[in-house]
Amino acid sequence: MILVTGATGTIGRPLLDLLISEGIKVRATTRSPETAGLPGEVAVVEGDPARPSTLTSSLEGVTSLFLHPRAVGLAAPDLLALAKKSGVRRVVVLSAVNVDDPLEEQPSRLNGDRNKEVEAAAVASGLEWVSLRASAFAINTLTAWGGQIRAGDIVRGPYANFSEAPIHERDLAAVAVRALLSDDLVGQKPALTGPRSLTHAELITTIGQVLGRPLRFQEIPPEAVRQAMIGQGLAESFVEALLNRYARGAGKPAPVTDEVEKILGRPARGWAEWVADHADAFRG
Ligand SMILES: NC(=O)c1ccc[n+]([C@@H]2O[C@H](COP(=O)([O-])OP(=O)(O)OC[C@H]3O[C@@H](n4cnc5c(N)ncnc54)[C@H](OP(=O)(O)O)[C@@H]3O)[C@@H](O)[C@H]2O)c1
Repeated sequence: MILVTGATGTIGRPLLDLLISEGIKVRATTRSPETAGLPGEVAVVEGDPARPSTLTSSLEGVTSLFLHPRAVGLAAPDLLALAKKSGVRRVVVLSAVNVDDPLEEQPSRLNGDRNKEVEAAAVASGLEWVSLRASAFAINTLTAWGGQIRAGDIVRGPYANFSEAPIHERDLAAVAVRALLSDDLVGQKPALTGPRSLTHAELITTIGQVLGRPLRFQEIPPEAVRQAMIGQGLAESFVEALLNRYARGAGKPAPVTDEVEKILGRPARGWAEWVADHADAFRG
């Protein structure tokens, strides 16, 4: 039995689909089972990883745990101690390629994510562990640019020459399945990226090509972006971290690894494929 935390999220849903397709018995946690909308093959359990005692009975009979950093937060050491006591043998954690970057350049931390601490808790847990250090999720672009793309052909933002190597959520989920089911990745922290580094401007151009529209990225000065984002209610510290990250990386290629291909035995899904898979969301 595998227990998946963060099951209703970006990575959790494709991970459940893949485990089901492999015929694996899966239990999934959510704080809101009535609205979770999880597949019928999954045993849905109500619980909050951030409050480990709510998962005590869910851990019974579990051999491997997928531990989601946003869901568990600083409770990871306590949840992993409980998991070990319950007989769990392996933990696979989601983490990020930037966990070793200066903390003030990790915007996700300022939104409460504790990828570094959750990874450290897995390593110290005494369980077999794998940490999946993911690059930027491709789906971030829907949040950042979806509204502008649905409204017109110009996408405004800072740093046209900032690059990402966005990873398809289904590739990340497929690597998580390997980490859970095979021994190949035990004790490793693979850096998982998309197959190519692309600038903001190139990402937008490709979205346009897939949608059949002349989309164009228009750079606007960081100070104007800072004010606009703060005006929209985003925390100033988060905006600072995001702009620091852009300023530091502007003009440089994003790191690209071949880990996804090595682990899955096929190339990582490319940017145009991801856009095609989500074209309806950009069309609105
Ligand atoms: N976005 C990126 O580019 C990127 C790249 C690398 C790493 N990461 C890391 O990956 C994680 C995000 O993954 P994701 O997109 O799969 O997450 P997500 O979809 O936002 O959340 C996963 C699930 O966790 C639960 N959850 C969310 N916030 C919670 C909270 N405050 N307390 C307790 N449970 C909560 C929710 O489940 P229920 O409501 O059903 O309980 C949610 O469905 C973060 O740690 C992030 O730093 C992100």
